[in-house]
Amino acid sequence: MRATITLDPAFIVGPVRPRVFGSFVEHLGRCVYGGIFEPGHPSADASGFRGDVLELTRELGVTMVRYPGGNFVSGYRWEDGVGPVDQRPKRRDLAWHSLEPNQIGVDEFMAWARLAGVEPMMAVNLGTRSVAEALDLLDYCNGPVGSTLADRRLAAGAATPYGVQLWCLGNEMDGPWQTGHKTAHEYGRLAAETGRAMKMMQPGLQLVACGSSSAAMPTFGAWEYEVLTQAYEQVDLISAHAYYCESNGDLASFLASADDMDQFIDAVTAAADAAKAAGKHSKTIGISFDEWNVWYQDRAESQPPQGDDWPVAPVLLEDHYNLADAVVVGDLLIALLRHSDRVEAACLAQLVNVIAPIMTVPGGPAWRQTIFHPFALTARHAKGQVLRLAIDSDCHDTQRFGSVAAIDAVATFDQVDGSLAVFVANRSTDQVGELAVDLSSFGELQLVEALTLHHDDPHFQATPDTQSSEFLGANETVAIEAGRLQASLPACSWSLIRLQIVGR
Ligand code: AHR
Repeated sequence: MRATITLDPAFIVGPVRPRVFGSFVEHLGRCVYGGIFEPGHPSADASGFRGDVLELTRELGVTMVRYPGGNFVSGYRWEDGVGPVDQRPKRRDLAWHSLEPNQIGVDEFMAWARLAGVEPMMAVNLGTRSVAEALDLLDYCNGPVGSTLADRRLAAGAATPYGVQLWCLGNEMDGPWQTGHKTAHEYGRLAAETGRAMKMMQPGLQLVACGSSSAAMPTFGAWEYEVLTQAYEQVDLISAHAYYCESNGDLASFLASADDMDQFIDAVTAAADAAKAAGKHSKTIGISFDEWNVWYQDRAESQPPQGDDWPVAPVLLEDHYNLADAVVVGDLLIALLRHSDRVEAACLAQLVNVIAPIMTVPGGPAWRQTIFHPFALTARHAKGQVLRLAIDSDCHDTQRFGSVAAIDAVATFDQVDGSLAVFVANRSTDQVGELAVDLSSFGELQLVEALTLHHDDPHFQATPDTQSSEFLGANETVAIEAGRLQASLPACSWSLIRLQIVGR
């Protein structure tokens, strides 16, 4: 397989947006309890936050974390999670058929987010609740002291408002599984009124309306158009959610998942722009891709408990990722970055234990899954502007998507320090990719680093004891001469190539 890419610093898609490297912490399974929070763990601080998870969260390069759900938020009473911990109620969580002990709530999450160095992104419950409760939560989080709710935050030790800027107006309200599921019209009206009231309290907020929970939803497209017809002026972004997995042994289609994400983003953009035109609006709605990942939803580990079994923090959605999953995660990030003109925020779902890059052993170590690495490397090295690259790749056939490009790539260029990063996936299951990149527009460049994520077995899984050098290492084939870069990319691989303008 061959591919040629031409890069020019003048051709820009948009800025690399830090919020694209967001993640997600939901009260689900062992994400909160046993994930970020495990009192008594050897690395835990006085608040019970695991220090090893905090360290890996920082290493992952996560910039923003969405909280507290997810499906969980649609039945959540945020007031249960504030005030003296020993007086907080235990409630049944219908979304995951679990018992919520409310040992962690808004204040604890904000304290954790500060330690992790991430921006909090909050979701309000528009399933079982409405405008008043959203306003109450907003006042509790962001209000200056003086109101009863802001003073309750003060009493919890937070005199300074949390300053949460980005808010989700509910979660996946298009899904019949959602507690308080609504039609597009019902939800659009509620989002409009909630958004209007929240902005009356704090005009500068950025609000995310629920888009579709997947492009496969029967209402997809019409949902976005109707919701934005109702709420266009009150919201700033519309959400998109997508999960991918290898099914029926069809690795070739799975590796091309980013093409599906591209089409999804383009369709959401079209629906949002149609609502803009029809409503004669002047602002443009951005996309918050606030749930994306690989998720094997049909496996036993994703089935919630049943009947009288309402456990606290059960093992749920604990997918064990392989090398191909990591290549797909790397390529999905490529797709998100190449839409940086429109995708303003994104959240890898989720952060710890639940379909997560970070796993924990109770009382034991925290460790990195395969998908940790492409995320961490992209978050660290994608800087400046995303370049509009011209790519010409050989194609191969897939069952799900027909003919797809074997090589997929995106590049970012930081004009300030002269660093260029090329992120590239070889999506062929069995062919080496020979890549040539024309970089002559940049002047003299030197190679800084070339790393490739690959294993001869695409289903190789990392364990707590695996060294990343078993599947991530220097790619010695990468060379640059007279403005032309050459690289050999193994089948089913993801690579990062870093270059630097000489003399900068
Ligand atoms: O991330 C797991 C679940 O997937 C979330 O709770 C929900 O929003 C989505 O369906």
